[in-house]
Parts: sequence; structure tokens; C-alpha cells
Amino acid sequence: MNVSIAAQSPPIISLQNARFSYEGGVEALRGVSLNVARGENVAIVGGNGSGKTTLAKHLNGLLKPSSGKVLIGGEETSTTSVATLARTVGYVFQNPDYQLFCTSVSEEVRFGPKNMGFGHDDESALAERALKLMGISHLREQSPVSLSLGDRRKVAIASVLATSPRVLVLDEPTTGLDSVESAQLMATLGVLRSEGMTIVLITHDMRLVAQHMDRVIVMSEGRIAFDAGVEEAFSDPDRLKRCKLLAPPITVLAQRLQAQGLLTEGATTPLQLVEQLVRVRGEQQ
Ligand SMILES: Nc1ncnc2c1ncn2[C@@H]1O[C@H](COP(=O)(O)OP(=O)(O)OP(=O)(O)O)[C@@H](O)[C@H]1O
Ligand SMILES: [Mg+2]
Repeated sequence: MNVSIAAQSPPIISLQNARFSYEGGVEALRGVSLNVARGENVAIVGGNGSGKTTLAKHLNGLLKPSSGKVLIGGEETSTTSVATLARTVGYVFQNPDYQLFCTSVSEEVRFGPKNMGFGHDDESALAERALKLMGISHLREQSPVSLSLGDRRKVAIASVLATSPRVLVLDEPTTGLDSVESAQLMATLGVLRSEGMTIVLITHDMRLVAQHMDRVIVMSEGRIAFDAGVEEAFSDPDRLKRCKLLAPPITVLAQRLQAQGLLTEGATTPLQLVEQLVRVRGEQQ
């Protein structure tokens, strides 16, 4: 999307000092403030229990802040129904089995657009496109319960995509997918992003973050520990460790090469590392 338009328009997601406590007293969000512009590509990372899923559930109104504000497309979630918010934000659950309940994949993927009142033709077109994007058209007659975890996850993602949301929030979507399927999913997210969709990806896979995401929000104990571009986010190993994270292996390798004077700049992807090595070699000749 046009970056200048994104920068000028109000953020599609805005949290203002949002706090949230579960019954029983765990304060899972302890004053979270952030803005996400339309078309941004954001990773939310952090150790287990740091508040990522709790934050994600605030983005579609499944959870409402105990104090502070969450605004989606300018509307406060505390006074907007989940059904209305679902027109803007599609949320893919961490566990696909919380999301799937129809007897066939085809029904599952049509349920969202049907429920939102899309006409029959639009409903069919949206469902077909979502099945195709996720590479599961051949599974349309199957029952979701009979599928592998990886395929159930793809059905869950397709059923959200079929509602044509402006923001897609995915909670650990590559769990249960093999390496090729993960790469395919990330390529699909790239297509959606090129069409202007805002992507919020929760993941424990730092290689995926380094390879595919632009911005990293690091959660620790219910707070944002830091919020930075990918290179900056992975630049400080001690800061990452305090947040129970490790940089991707390529970044660690580049940092070691830098420490030995063999590289002048860091790298977060294999391609960047190769480019740096070629540059250094060229300078030496
Ligand atoms: N339904 C619940 N009831 C009570 N406490 C909860 C509930 N869900 C989460 N918590 C607590 O809230 C905190 C944040 O949990 P959350 O699930 O948001 O973390 P997370 O970063 O998504 O973790 P993970 O990486 O394991 O998915 C944790 O202390 C967790 O134990
Ligand atoms: Mg979680």
C-alpha cells in the first residue's frame, strides 16, 4: 500500500494503556500502548505466558480491557460488538479446534461470509478464494475433525480469510505445519499484504519473523518490552534473553563474524548474510 497514505490515516489498531486481569487475579496486560497503521506487517513475540494471546484477543473484542482503551478502525472495542469488530479483524485462534465446528470444510469456510450477510455468489467466491489461497480446495468435502492438525489449521485460517477482513491476526499459525507448509503460509500472507491487508502474527519462530516481518513487538510479563524494526529488535542478545528470546541463527552467526572483524554489518536473513560477505570480500580484493 502507499506508505504515505498509511502514515496519514488514523491507526487501524490503537491500544492506550490497556490493562486486563483474568478472573483469579492474573494481570495479563499491564498497561499496553501501541498503534498499528493500515498495511503494517507486525510480529508479536515473547516467552510463554507473556500476554501475546491475551493481547490478540483484545484486537477482535473477545476480551475487553479492564482499564485503558482498545480502538479498532477508530471504534472502541468496549462499546462495539464482536460481530461488528469481526468485519474489520479476523482472528485465527492458537488452537484451531476452538474455531472449527461445521461438518465439512466447505461449510466451515462459508460460515463466516454467510453469517456476515454476503450474498450467495459473494459467499461462494470468497470461500473458493480462501480454500485456494490455503491450498485446501481438495479437502472441501472432508470433515475438519478427520484432518491432521496442520490441515485443521489451514481450514481455520481459510475460514477467517473468507470473511475478507482488513486486519488478520494469527496466533502461532505455523504450529503443526511442516517447513514447506510454513513457507507457503508466509508466502500467502505476503500476497494478502500486497493487497493492503494488515497482518499481526504471533509466533515463537524468530526465523519467520526475520524473514517475513517488518516490525517486532516484544511482550514480557504483560508489558511491551520493546517495539522495533526487525534488525533493531534482534541486535541486542542480552535484551532478547531478558525477554526469554533468542535471535535467529543467522543473526547470531553474523554477530559472531562481526565480533571477529569479518563482517561490518549485522544480518537477519541468509540472503543478507551472503550479501554482506560478498561486499566484504569485494572490499578486500
Ligand atoms: N483463561 C485464563 N484464565 C486465567 N489466567 C489466564 C488465562 N489465559 C491466560 N492466563 C494467564 O495470563 C497470562 C498471559 O497468558 P497468554 O495466554 O496471553 O500468554 P502467551 O504469551 O500467549 O503464552 P503462550 O506463548 O504460552 O501462548 C499467563 O500468566 C497465563 O497463565
Ligand atoms: Mg498464546
